[in-house]
Amino acid sequence: MTSFAASNYTGLKHIHALVAEQLAEIFATKGAELTPAVTAEAAAKLNAETIFGLVQVPASSKNGHATIPMPVLLKAGDLKGNPAQFAASVAKISTRDLKGNPAQFAASVAKIFTVGELITKVEQAAIYLNFHANQDFLTSSVLSAVLQQTDNYGSNGGQLGLGKKIVVEYSSPNIAKPFHAGHLRSTIIGNFIANVHRMLGYEVVRINYLGDWGKQFGLLAVGFEKYGSEEALNENPIIHLFDVYVKINVRCSEEATNDATIHDQARAYFQRMENGDESALAIWKRFRDLSITKYIDIYKRLGIEFDVYSGESQYSESMKDALAELKEKNLLTESLGAQIIELKDKKLGHVIVEKSDGTTLYITRDIAAGIERFNTYNYDQQFYVVAAQQDLHFQQLFEIFRRMGRENISEKCQHINFGMVKGMSTRKGTVVFLEDILKEAAETMHTVMKGNEEKYKQIEDPDAIADILGISAVMIQDMSSRRIRGYDFDWRRITSFEGDTGPYLQYTHARICSIQRRLSAVLSLEKDIYAADAAIDFSLLTEPAAHALVDLMATYHDVLLAACKTSEPCGVVTFALELSRAISSALDTLRVIDQEPAVQRARAALFIAARHTLSNALRILGLTPVEQM
Ligand code: ARG
Repeated sequence: MTSFAASNYTGLKHIHALVAEQLAEIFATKGAELTPAVTAEAAAKLNAETIFGLVQVPASSKNGHATIPMPVLLKAGDLKGNPAQFAASVAKISTRDLKGNPAQFAASVAKIFTVGELITKVEQAAIYLNFHANQDFLTSSVLSAVLQQTDNYGSNGGQLGLGKKIVVEYSSPNIAKPFHAGHLRSTIIGNFIANVHRMLGYEVVRINYLGDWGKQFGLLAVGFEKYGSEEALNENPIIHLFDVYVKINVRCSEEATNDATIHDQARAYFQRMENGDESALAIWKRFRDLSITKYIDIYKRLGIEFDVYSGESQYSESMKDALAELKEKNLLTESLGAQIIELKDKKLGHVIVEKSDGTTLYITRDIAAGIERFNTYNYDQQFYVVAAQQDLHFQQLFEIFRRMGRENISEKCQHINFGMVKGMSTRKGTVVFLEDILKEAAETMHTVMKGNEEKYKQIEDPDAIADILGISAVMIQDMSSRRIRGYDFDWRRITSFEGDTGPYLQYTHARICSIQRRLSAVLSLEKDIYAADAAIDFSLLTEPAAHALVDLMATYHDVLLAACKTSEPCGVVTFALELSRAISSALDTLRVIDQEPAVQRARAALFIAARHTLSNALRILGLTPVEQM
C-alpha cells in the first residue's frame, strides 16, 4: 500500500497533490451533496493518488495552476452524469471548505493565505475544474527547488523511471550510403527520447543499428577492387566508400553485358560473407570499423553518444535460431523456393524471410536482433526511431513477434516514426553528407555573428560557438512540430536570432549568463543565491513578469512527463521558446544591476533559476547551451 501525501511533493506538484487530497476528502465525507452523488464505493476509487494522476497544468495560465477535466474524473469513479453540473457542485463545496470555519473566515480572508492556505481559488469552467495557487508559495517553492537541484531540476528525483530500463535504437545509417535527412531526424529525435527518459530516472541503453550487411556489401567489395584507394579510405571512409559504391553502380548500369557478371560477383561475394568466409569478412570488417570511427567523430560534434554500435551484421547465429523457431511454430510457407510469412489476414501482405538462394533479408535480421536484444537487456520498453516510410516494416515485425508467441516483445516495442524533410541540401549539391550540412550551418551562423562586430570581438572561440549555434538551428527546426509532420529545410529561417529558432534560445541563455558575469562583481552567488540559508526574500518578486516566469518554470516537470509519454519533442521546444519569451519580457521590466541589495538578490535568483531551467530544457533537446555569442 503506497501512502500518498502532498508533503512529499514540492512546487506545483505540491499544489496538485493538495487539490487531490482535498477532493478525495470531499468525496469521502460529502459525496452525497454532489450531483451526481459520490457513493462510498465511488469515493473509494477516487482516492487522492488517483485524482493526483488526473490533475493537469492548464493550457493557459489564465485558468490557474491546476485543472481537472470532469469526464475523466467521472470515469475514474464510474460515475455517470452531466460533467459540467458535477464540476459546479464540486466547486461549490470546495470553496466552502477552503473558507473553513465561517467564524474564522469572517476574521480575515487575507489571513487564510498566510496561515498556509495554498489553494486560493477554485472555479468551474465548462467541464473543467480550475484551481489557483498562492503565488508567493509557488515563487519561493519553485525558485528554491531550481536553485537547489540545478541540473536535475525537472527530474522529480527520477521517481518515474526508478528501476526501469529502456532501449532506444536510433540514427542507424547505412555504411557506404549517404547519411540522409531521415537518419538525421532519427538521430535528433532518438537522442531526445533517450535524454528525457534518462532525466526521469530510467536506465537507458542507446543503440546504433548500422546498415552493415546485405548484398550491397558484396557489390562494394567488388567495387573496391576496381576503384578503391587505401589512402582515400583512411582519409574519409564514409565519403570514399560512397564514391566507390556510386561508381560500381554506374558501371553496372552502363555496361549492360558486364552487368550480370558484376552482379554475380557481388552475390557470390555476399554469399561468402554469409557463410563466414574469413577473407571475405576481413575487408568488410575494415570498412565497418573505419566508418564507425568516423561516425563517432561526427556524433561527438553533435553531442551524441551510443552505448552500443550494433548492426544488421551481428546476428548470423541468432538468425538461424530465429528461422528454426519460425519453422517450428509453423509460420513459414514456401513460395518459389523462398520462405515467407503470410500476414494477409492482418492486411500486412506477406514477408519474405529467406530468399531462394538461402540469403536473408532486412526483416529477418530485425526478427533475430529483436529477440536477442530482449534476452540481453530485459528492457521494460524499446523504441525504434525510424522514418514513417518503414511503418509497414515495423507493423509486420511486431505482428511476427506476436505470432511467435512473443507478446512480451511486441507489447514492449514501439515504432517512433516521423515525416520527411524536403530540400535538405547544401548550396553546392544535392547528395548530402551530414558533415557538409553541419559545416554549412556553422558558416551561416558565423556570418550572422560577424554582423555585430562589437560583440563578435569579445567571443573567445567564435568557430566553436558558430558550430554549436548551427547545430542548434538544425535541431530546433527538426523538433518544432509533431514528429509525423515533415518540413521544408529552410536555412534562412532557422539561423535567425529572432523567432522560433535554436539561435534565439541560445541567445536568451547567453543573455542571462552575461548578466550573471556582471553580477558576480557584487554578489557572491554561492553564498547569496545557492546556499541553503541564502537570505532571499522571494516575496519581493511581485511583478506579473516575475510570476509569469515562475509559473512556467513550475510546469517543467509536467512538460517532461508529457514528452516521455508521447515521445514528442515539440512540447519541450514550445516550453523553451515560451520560457525564453518570458525571460525577455522580464529582463525588459526587471532590472537587476544597480538595485537595492534585497531586490537585487531576489531578481538575480529569479533569472539564474530561469537560466538553469532553460539550460536543462536545451540539454534534454540535445543542444549545448552557450554562455556567450
Ligand atoms: N538502416 C536502416 C535504414 O537506413 C534503418 C534501420 C532501422 N532499424 C531497424 N531496426 N530496422 O533504412
